[in-house]
Amino acid sequence: MGKISQFVKAGALLLTMAGCSSPNSGGKDAEIDRFISDLMGRMTLHEKLGQLNLPAGNDLVSGAVKNSKMAEAIRAGEVGGFFNVKGVNKIYQMQRMAVEETRLGIPLIVGADVIHGYETIFPIPLALSCSWDTAAVTRMARISATEASADGISWTFSPMVDICRDARWGRIAEGSGEDPYLGALMAGAYVRGYQGDGMKQNNEIMACVKHFALYGASESGRDYNSVDMSRNLMYNVYLAPYKGAVEAGVGSVMSSFNTINGVPATAGKWLLTDLLRNEWGFTGFVVTDYNSIGEMKTHGVADLKEASARALNAGTDMDMVAHGFLHTLEASLKEKAVTQERIDEACRRVLEAKYKLGLFENPYKYCDTLRGRKELFTEANRKAAREIAAETFVLLKNEGKLLPLQKKGRIALIGPMADAQNNMCGTWNMDCQTDRHVTMYEAFRRAVGDKATVSYAKGSNVYYSEHIEKGAVEPRPLTRGDDRQLRAEALRVAASADVIVAALGESAEMSGESSSRTDIQIPDAQKDLLKALVATGKPVILALFTGRPLDLCWESEHVPAILNVWFAGSEAGDAIADVMFGDMSPSGKLTTSFPRAVGQLPLYYNHLNTGRPDTDDTTFNRYGSNYIDQSNEPLYPFGYGLSYTTFRYGNLQLSAERMAKGGQLKVTVPVTNSGECDGVEIVQLYLHDVYAEISRPVKELKAFRRVALKKGETQNVEFVLDEDDLKYYNSRLEYGYEPGEFEVMVGPDSRNVQHATFVAE
Ligand code: BGC
Repeated sequence: MGKISQFVKAGALLLTMAGCSSPNSGGKDAEIDRFISDLMGRMTLHEKLGQLNLPAGNDLVSGAVKNSKMAEAIRAGEVGGFFNVKGVNKIYQMQRMAVEETRLGIPLIVGADVIHGYETIFPIPLALSCSWDTAAVTRMARISATEASADGISWTFSPMVDICRDARWGRIAEGSGEDPYLGALMAGAYVRGYQGDGMKQNNEIMACVKHFALYGASESGRDYNSVDMSRNLMYNVYLAPYKGAVEAGVGSVMSSFNTINGVPATAGKWLLTDLLRNEWGFTGFVVTDYNSIGEMKTHGVADLKEASARALNAGTDMDMVAHGFLHTLEASLKEKAVTQERIDEACRRVLEAKYKLGLFENPYKYCDTLRGRKELFTEANRKAAREIAAETFVLLKNEGKLLPLQKKGRIALIGPMADAQNNMCGTWNMDCQTDRHVTMYEAFRRAVGDKATVSYAKGSNVYYSEHIEKGAVEPRPLTRGDDRQLRAEALRVAASADVIVAALGESAEMSGESSSRTDIQIPDAQKDLLKALVATGKPVILALFTGRPLDLCWESEHVPAILNVWFAGSEAGDAIADVMFGDMSPSGKLTTSFPRAVGQLPLYYNHLNTGRPDTDDTTFNRYGSNYIDQSNEPLYPFGYGLSYTTFRYGNLQLSAERMAKGGQLKVTVPVTNSGECDGVEIVQLYLHDVYAEISRPVKELKAFRRVALKKGETQNVEFVLDEDDLKYYNSRLEYGYEPGEFEVMVGPDSRNVQHATFVAE
């Protein structure tokens, strides 16, 4: 223990930092305080509770707005905001009621799940993270905010930053994968894009980081399931992206559905107050997830009244959908189960958010009904979506340089995803106007013009079973056909082709909320189709649609080329054509490990070593930590992805063998584009602490560079490490590092790395 040099108790440092550098300190704060104190001085208890109430707009607005249930609630001062109503005209009318027909005229905050675009849809977040391009993520969030705000929305329930190590969980699609470092960077990138320059402009909206916390660790990969986790794993891994969002100034936090060590996150005082506020210095407001307070009853913890009191006391400020705050807190206050101070504090935070959004100055800031026509689904936005989408594709295999495709001869495009307009953009689209989306079939024909022919066959259903398919595709069904006829037609089309492109995988709704799977292979009917196509002996390229890592063992062995295209958004078709025909070389790298079998899950690269590590990947070692029937290794590791060109790594060099206390160490590696075209390489740096007080991961990502290299070009890629890169939370949750040996690894992915060591003093 003597060698522990400089550990600091978790939170101690941050508290001081938050105190002296809060963006809200100084004159502005005093002005907000005065304004809100004055307003709150005139509010009744019922009006205060109204501010804490967030009903779901889509349930309460049907027909004419003025006669809706929502209108009634607004006029009664019982609504702080609402969410998921589409259309600026409706939103404007409701805002007017709040401003002109209530006693105090407090404006509403209007939320929505703007997750990966609004009308212009970008790739799903998991795909976006595979670009490793934080600037691209900020750009996509900026465009999303511009479009959403032009349609009346002031608040988005994004970013979703839940780390996930289990591909069975469908919501893995909504996050940035398995890594805390990349996850934290991505979290900040989203927040900056949505909130822009402090939410001053009418195209800057408030972000809401979710789901706080640890939702991605749901047991068995089953949605909404419990989480049991050590504080140590939380601090070192799972909490990092939420903290990244808080450090980027996120305005709000959404708590998660799950329990954490038995306590529903919604009522987790340690989580929502001790950690979020006291340690991290968060100053915005906390909203629950959908009816989470109501669900505390089925968790077996409390009925609505007690649950509401517990949630409030824990640090929840706004109640989404359960109506528990509005209807029960008055009684709880009389019974002294909650305090007036805590109600006031929650109300103040909600009002502060509205103030920061500029809604008190101009309640109609987001209700410019003329903006939509100019700013939604524009050529420029679609162009950005197409460019960004192309950056997210991951080339998993390319035997014999089958890709890029030549624009000549006869191309057969086969599979249920090839021409499915309603299926291109994946989960969570609030406004998915699918009839405007570009399919592969359409884009391929456009791309080749008269230089080649493209023929199409659907080839199969998603699943053989109509029953399973129904669950998988709802609410965006694909037309079903007869299995045999579909296959026969596909083989007929394939017979006259020079090359086959198979567009297969998951349908859009097979990942996302409530979309867990126990079998993560390509669904049966499609897999058999693929086998039949491969059996023709023609070259087959797989365009893989998926929202999660799949078990691709068979495909990796038998299909010569695999391009993972995820769900790429409204411009998916064109973006896939751009990459498949070689206008752009793929550069995406996986941010989540692709397993060899579902039985390996949870699977992640930054695991701890056992006392008996696997010594030989191909043979079973009795009394070693391995499986009788499967390797420990993923099929495709974290960080993996190919390009149309190749990159040669020269020797890794360190500027010194020792890093002085408080000093730096330079790590350099020359990288050459040794192939036939220009390309982008993502160079990754990992560290391993050889001996530490607690067992540390075999490697952890600490830095990366996206390097654009012309054909034949070499660049010396340089990283500068300092002691912050060595730090972790020890068994007492103190943050620091221990002097000693560290291993540094650099390479094109987490498996294929060069090693060097240094000593930190
Ligand atoms: C989801 C959240 C979402 C909320 C509001 C919930 O079911 O878990 O991610 O923001 O609904 O639509």
